[in-house]
Amino acid sequence: MDPAIKYRLIKKDKHTGARLGELITPHGTFPTPMFMPVGTQATVKSLAPEELDEMGAGVILSNTYHLWLQPGEDLVKEAGGLHKFMNWDKGILTDSGGYQVFSLAKNRKLTEEGVHFRNPSNGDKLFLSPEKAIQIENDLGPDIMMSLDECPPYYESYDYIKSSVERTSRWAERGLRAHQHADYQGLFGIVQGAGYEDLRKQSAKDLTSLDFPGYSIGGLSVGEPKKEMNRVLDFTTPLLPENKPRYLMGVGTADSLIDGVIRGIDMFDCVLPTRIARNGTCMTSHGRLVVKNAVYARDFSPIDDNCDCYTCRNYTRAYIRHLFKADESFGMRLTSYHNLYYLLNLMKRVREAIMNDQLLDLRAEVFENYG
Ligand code: GUN
Ligand code: ZN
Repeated sequence: MDPAIKYRLIKKDKHTGARLGELITPHGTFPTPMFMPVGTQATVKSLAPEELDEMGAGVILSNTYHLWLQPGEDLVKEAGGLHKFMNWDKGILTDSGGYQVFSLAKNRKLTEEGVHFRNPSNGDKLFLSPEKAIQIENDLGPDIMMSLDECPPYYESYDYIKSSVERTSRWAERGLRAHQHADYQGLFGIVQGAGYEDLRKQSAKDLTSLDFPGYSIGGLSVGEPKKEMNRVLDFTTPLLPENKPRYLMGVGTADSLIDGVIRGIDMFDCVLPTRIARNGTCMTSHGRLVVKNAVYARDFSPIDDNCDCYTCRNYTRAYIRHLFKADESFGMRLTSYHNLYYLLNLMKRVREAIMNDQLLDLRAEVFENYG
C-alpha cells in the first residue's frame, strides 16, 4: 500500500543539519521546513481560509481533544470531514489530545489503558485511550494524525520518564493497530524522554521500529531553557530516519524555529503567534512590538517596515492601536494576519537560505535584530 504521506528530501545544508524538502499529502504538497498555524477549534482564530492560503500556509493544525468535546467527531464526520466542515482544502494535522488532557483537564487519572478525566466545561467523566484518539482522528479525517502520548513535565525523575516513555511506545503501537485509514491518513509517532539522552534513544528506537510515516518530537518547549531544547535536539534528530519528516511540537518563536531547522526539523506548530496577536503583540524583524502601547498613538508607520503583508501594506500602528483601545475585533484580525505572515515568510527565507547554503547568515541576522 502506498503511504498517505511522503517526504521528499531536496537538499541538505552544507554547514548545518538543515534540510530542504517537501511533504506530499492527500491535500496537496507543501515545502519544508514549514510552520503550521494552529486552528484549535477548526478555525485559525479570526482568519479566513483564503487568507491563510494567500499567506502561504499549506498545512494547519487542529486538535482532537477540542473537536471531540465540541462539536463531536461524529458531527464533523457527518459534515464530510474536517476539510469540508471548515472549508480548507489543503493539509490538516491533528494533535492527539494527550498534551491537552495533561495541560487542561483536572482530576485526571493515568492508567495503562488511557486517561480518565473530567470535561472542564461540564464535569462529565471522559476517557481517552490510544484507540479512542485514533477513532476520533479517523472520523475527523486530517491528512496527518498524532498518536496518543504522555507529555510529562520536563524536570521529572529518570524513573518516571522511563516508565512514561515505555507507556507512550505501547500506546503508539496500539494506535497504529487501531488506525483504519493508513491509505489516506498518515499517523506519526511522538518521541518523548525529557532531557535524558538514553530515554530519547529508547523512545526513537521503539517508534522507528514501528515504521511510522513521520516522527514528532514532544515534551519540549514546556518551560525548559532554550539551550536545553537545543541540547536535546542535537542528539534526538539524528536518531530519526532521513526519509521521513520530523515535527517539533509546540515551537513558534523566530529564534527557536531557526535553531530547530539547523538541527534537522522539518515542521513546527505553535499557538504563540496568534495568541499574542490577540493581545496586541506583534512579531517583527526588530523583535516584539506591543502595538497597544501609548508610544504608538501617533505612529503612522506600519507594524514592521520590512513586512509586505496585507496589514503592513494598508494599516498603521496608530490605527491598529486605536482598534485595540476601542475593543474592535478587526485589530486582532490585522495583528493575527501579520504575525502568521511573519513566521511563514521567515520559513520561506529559511528555505531559500538552505538552497543557497546561507542559513547561518540568516540566523545571525535574525538573532541580531531579535536582541
Ligand atoms: N504539543 C506540544 N508538545 C506536545 C507533546 O509532547 N505531545 C503532544 N501530543 N502535543 C504536544
Ligand atoms: Zn506585516
